[in-house]
Amino acid sequence: MAERTSAPALPAPSETLLAIADAHGTPTYVYSERVVERQARKLEQLFDGLDVSFLYAMKANPAPPIIETLGRHGFGVDAVSPGEMLWALRLGIAPERILFSANMMTDDEMHTAQAHGVVLNIGELTRLERYGRAYPGSEVCVRLNPKHGAGHHAHVVTAGDRTKFGIPVEQIDDTLRIASEYDLKIVGVHQHIGSGILSSQQFADAIAVTLAEAPRFTDARWVNLGGGLGIPYRPGEEEIDVDTFRADVIAPLSDYQHAHPHLSFRLEPGRFLTAQAGVLLARVNTVKEGSRRTFAGTDTGMGQLVRPTVYDAYHHIANLSNPDGALQPYDVTGNICETGDVLARERALPDVREGDVLAVLDAGAYGMSMASTYNLRPLPAEVWLGADDVPHVLRARESDEAFVERTMAGYRPVAQ
Ligand code: LLP
Repeated sequence: MAERTSAPALPAPSETLLAIADAHGTPTYVYSERVVERQARKLEQLFDGLDVSFLYAMKANPAPPIIETLGRHGFGVDAVSPGEMLWALRLGIAPERILFSANMMTDDEMHTAQAHGVVLNIGELTRLERYGRAYPGSEVCVRLNPKHGAGHHAHVVTAGDRTKFGIPVEQIDDTLRIASEYDLKIVGVHQHIGSGILSSQQFADAIAVTLAEAPRFTDARWVNLGGGLGIPYRPGEEEIDVDTFRADVIAPLSDYQHAHPHLSFRLEPGRFLTAQAGVLLARVNTVKEGSRRTFAGTDTGMGQLVRPTVYDAYHHIANLSNPDGALQPYDVTGNICETGDVLARERALPDVREGDVLAVLDAGAYGMSMASTYNLRPLPAEVWLGADDVPHVLRARESDEAFVERTMAGYRPVAQ
């Protein structure tokens, strides 16, 4: 993986993206198959030499061609709801390549996953007990909380003593007792410590805890190390350094595999595979001089890319229509009726004019998948830029009229 110290890159030439904005309108998410492929290969190279299989954490972006592209690479899916599981099954992902990791699972969800022959990943002792009672003798995976959490924001740290996820390692005795009571075979041991991690050491610390405990699970065939590999969002930020990662993470995994040849590894990244593949194209409709700052108002917003609002996340923005304009500071906003509806604050951008098309970069993960129709604005269109470089409309834009019609039809009239 080459280091990158320059600004984040567009996933496709700027002319291609401008042509998509002209042909299909804005707001539109565009995803590049080439970049998904590139990231899949990078991941394979990063873990080269280990007995490892990959699951795609599809919550990052469930667009069907992404799952199909990764499926052709042999990737399975990490599914965290019945909806995600059924979605992956319908796209042809075999049940044995799916892990069902719903947290705070209901009985219904448990039965649905079991009925489809998908292994459940359980992170709560009472659920393990209920699973054992319902399906004694079954194979199951348990999610541990290895104490060391990490992530780009407190909201996405999923290990440590402040998170609801995973069975604390000090409860492993109870876990084994429940498993033995119901003859459950714990075939997988799982951890996922957080999201958007660029430090190898943080992975290494958590992995060391989980690997130290894994031999206690005598039926285990694999250890799932979770997702969480970050990408550089800001100019100057660097990718995970390959050499450091191989020294801190891969070398201990490789030693472990030699000592425990019956165990293989699994990894389930989301963001790493898709974030850089996607941009959100938006058109500036209003440039407004405030008393202290200039607002570049667009036709998208927090309903369609909520990461800046929820996590203060940085997304690089390119002015595709005027790349060589003089740099000026802007607050780039959406059209939603909240002051927090800001895509970037005091961002230097080439002179923004009404009508310009902006590309919000690195929006291929947790962009559309977290989008809502808040303020009753329809979702953006989605375009797939295949390896043939031909744009395919994945989801057509819905008119306001059609959106209102469809949404209102979901409500039943209330008898007066
Ligand atoms: N496995 C499990 C069990 C997870 O909960 C997640 C993400 C992943 C894998 C994939 O993590 P990744 O490789 O994408 O970091 N909405 C937030 C991210 C939340 C991630 C939740 N779990 C964001 O936009 O940054």
